[in-house]
Amino acid sequence: MSRTPEIDVGDYVREIPGQQFLVRTEAYTDEDVFELEMKHIFERTWIYVGHETEFPSAGSFKTAYVGRQPIVVIRDKEGKIGAFFNRCVHRGATLLREHQGTVQEMRCPYHGWIFDLAGRTRLVSERGDPGGYGANFIEPEGLLRVPRLESYRGLLFVSLDADIQPLASYLGELKTVIDAKLDLSPVGRIAIASKPYVCRYRGNWKLQTENIVDAYHFMHTHGAFVKLQAKYGDSTGDFGVHKGRSSREMREQRFRGETWSCRQGHGFARVPAADPGYLLDGEFGRMYRELLDRHGEAAFAGITSKATSTVFPSMGMIHQQIRVWRPISVDETEVLIYPYEIEGAPDAFNAGMLRSQERFYGPSGFGMTDDTEIFARVTQGLRASSVEWLVFDRGMDSDERTESGDYRGLPSSEAPQRALWRAWKKMMQQASKHA
Ligand code: FES
Ligand SMILES: [Fe+2]
Repeated sequence: MSRTPEIDVGDYVREIPGQQFLVRTEAYTDEDVFELEMKHIFERTWIYVGHETEFPSAGSFKTAYVGRQPIVVIRDKEGKIGAFFNRCVHRGATLLREHQGTVQEMRCPYHGWIFDLAGRTRLVSERGDPGGYGANFIEPEGLLRVPRLESYRGLLFVSLDADIQPLASYLGELKTVIDAKLDLSPVGRIAIASKPYVCRYRGNWKLQTENIVDAYHFMHTHGAFVKLQAKYGDSTGDFGVHKGRSSREMREQRFRGETWSCRQGHGFARVPAADPGYLLDGEFGRMYRELLDRHGEAAFAGITSKATSTVFPSMGMIHQQIRVWRPISVDETEVLIYPYEIEGAPDAFNAGMLRSQERFYGPSGFGMTDDTEIFARVTQGLRASSVEWLVFDRGMDSDERTESGDYRGLPSSEAPQRALWRAWKKMMQQASKHA
C-alpha cells in the first residue's frame, strides 16, 4: 500500500530513553501514513461519539465518524442507545445527514427503504411491484451494528474492533481527570445542552491531539491574550467562575502541577486551583463547600484543579468542554467543541462558564484562533521536508516512570505529546507488519 515500502513507519518515532525523542516530518504529511492511521489507529481504538444527554428520547440521533467511516448513534423505542454504520444496506447511501436530530425511523433518501430505530429493516419499497423482488429475495436484516459501544459516566465511545479491551481499562489514568471534572457536579453528572461550535483547520489531526495538552505554548501562542489580561485583569471577564490571572501568575502557573503520559496514548496536564479561598468564599462558595465536605480535601483539590486532557486519538476535555476532532485528509481536520453544563450547579455558574468559554474558544474568542493559525503555520513549515525531524525532548530527563507503565512529568514537559507518539508508534508498527 505504501509508496515508500522501504520505510518502516514505526521508525518515524525515535526515542532514546531519558534523552531524545524525535518524530519524522512525514508522520504529519504523508498520505500513505494517513491511510494507515485511519485503518490501524482509528479502527482499533475507542472513538468518542457523544454524551448520553444528547439522546434524550426515542429517535434522538447523532451522526459521527470513526476515522472516515460514517456512523449513526441513535436511541431506540426501548430506550437503548445503539451505533450503526450510516450506510443503507441496499446500495450504500448514508441514511442520516444532519449532525444531530430526532427521527421516527431511518428512511433512505435513494430508493425509500426504511429501517426502525433499532436498525431493523422495516420496509423494502415497491417490493411486490412488477420488476420488484421475487419470492427468493433474501431481505437484509438491517443496518450493520458497530461492534462495540460503551459508556463511561455518560460519555459514549464506539470501537470497530470487537476484541478491544473494555473502555474503562482503555481510559486508564485518564479516568482521574474525567472523574474530577464530573465530580464538580453535586450529582456527579454533566449535560450537553447546546450544539457544538465547529471549525476546520489546514493541518494534520495530530496537531490538535498534541496542542490540547500543550502547557508549553500558552504564553507564546496566546501572547496577545496574555497582554490583554495583564492590562485589563479580570475586566476581560471572569464571570464569577473562571478567575483571570495576571501575566505573572500565568507564568508561575506553568511551573505548578503535573503532566501525564498514559501508556494507552492519552495525556493530560493538571494545575491545582491558584486560590481555593477564592472558590470557597466566592459567589458559588456554598457549592464548593458542599463538595469539600462530600469528597474531602485531596479529592477536592483534584476537582478544583484545571486539567486539559486528550483521549487517544481524537477526543479531549479542557475547561468545561468536550472537544472532538475528525481527520478529513492528511492536511485538513474538523474540530467540534461542546460546552457542557454541570448538573445541579446554580444556573449562574453554568452561564458564567459558557461566557468564559466564549471569551477564549468561541469564533470571536481570544485563544482558539491563535491555535488554528499555528496549525496552518506548522503545516506550511513542514513543507520544508528537507528538515527531517521534529523535537519532543522537553522534560524528558525528569519524567518518572510509574508502576503502571505511564510517565509522570513536570508541568510544562512534553510528556503528554510523547504519549501520543509512543502509542502511535506501537500501532503503526503493527500496521506495517500487516501492510
Ligand atoms: S440505497 Fe438505500 S434504498 Fe437504495
Ligand atoms: Fe492554545
